[in-house]
Amino acid sequence: MVKLETFAVEQWMDKYETTAKYNTAETCCASISIDDLRELSEDKDVNPLTALQSTKLTYGAIRGSDKLRGTLSNLYSVKTPGLVPKDNILITGGAIQANFLLLYTLVGPGDHVICHYPTYQQLYSVPESLGAEVSLWKSKEANDWQLDIEELKSLIRPNTKLIIINNPQNPTGAIIPRDTLQSLVEIARESSITLFADEVYRPLFHNISPMDSQFPPSLLSFGYEHSVVTGSVSKAYSLAGLRVGWIASLSETIIEACANSRDYTTISVGQIDDAVASFALAPECIHNLLKRNIELARTNLAILEKFIESHRWACDWIKPRAGTTAFVRFNKMGKPVNDVVFCEMLQEGKGVMFVPGSLCFGGGEDFKGYVRVGYACETEVLEKGLEALREFMEDDYDEVPALKKAKAAQ
Ligand SMILES: Cc1ncc(COP(=O)(O)O)c(C=O)c1O
Repeated sequence: MVKLETFAVEQWMDKYETTAKYNTAETCCASISIDDLRELSEDKDVNPLTALQSTKLTYGAIRGSDKLRGTLSNLYSVKTPGLVPKDNILITGGAIQANFLLLYTLVGPGDHVICHYPTYQQLYSVPESLGAEVSLWKSKEANDWQLDIEELKSLIRPNTKLIIINNPQNPTGAIIPRDTLQSLVEIARESSITLFADEVYRPLFHNISPMDSQFPPSLLSFGYEHSVVTGSVSKAYSLAGLRVGWIASLSETIIEACANSRDYTTISVGQIDDAVASFALAPECIHNLLKRNIELARTNLAILEKFIESHRWACDWIKPRAGTTAFVRFNKMGKPVNDVVFCEMLQEGKGVMFVPGSLCFGGGEDFKGYVRVGYACETEVLEKGLEALREFMEDDYDEVPALKKAKAAQ
């Protein structure tokens, strides 16, 4: 039997999200309905479901509809026409399936994989379960959660098969800037190492201007053949309930190999999901949808920042640049709090849900005292959740145990 680590963050979410009064742990921009989506669309007369009423519900297009893959192809090829042909895109059941299929396809025993850290546990636990040796390429808080290219060079081995990044990064909300991506591509190119970017939080850039020279494009924009990305409609597009994601690559070989694995697990993604995702990402809708979510993230981040500024005696952070999550460090007199107990007490006492960093992102060892806050929920939920947290900080924070000593550098 394959040995697979417990997926800590998903188990935590599953345990608490249905009972939380204020779900400030969710990583999706506040979810929307099909009615909301139609409101956002410039084509108000079109209902993505109408055409489906009389459509026979076959498996549909096996790799995903031409419409959806064509729309995605255009999105990836805005600056370089034809960069990612639609045949180089596979539609999957969310980014989680896209990631799994990709790793299952590319990684095996004897391979060495380098993975950005901290990040979504799937990205390093799955390669490990497939028999690969995994080295963590650590972004450090002291360095604004940036990655060090010299460190990457020291991690590369003759059998390094894959380098994995998560951009924007969950849980920190940091971005990997353009120059770092460029250097990464150059290093990978020297040894023909495949680069894989989980870009599920693209293009939710709310704290960096698109005019900034370091604004990160998709990894595919660098034109490196051995590169592959995953994405989905869950986070930046508020449509997690569709379960639609994708794998896109410049390499036909990678796509065909993934398609083969996908045949064994997926056959196709539901026609209804595909049609609604196509509607959401079409030019008539995508701009308003992203505008709504970037404004939501900006508004809510300002509210969270205000809270942090007024609680500097207990918490600290590097303000996120993108995505939906912030990694906030809670301490008492310089010592990290027990983040698991803190989250449990907060949930039980006030119904406020956060995710404990050490359990869900640090394998029980790193990131003690950190909690991940999902701040792109409905603004009212965040406001009320932070109000409840404020009360907790006044009345109950004294009871939260502190851990012995803070680690100097994660
Ligand atoms: C980095 C990252 N990748 C992938 C996923 C899976 O997203 P989905 O399957 O909803 O597209 C998540 C969900 O939290 C995530 O944070």
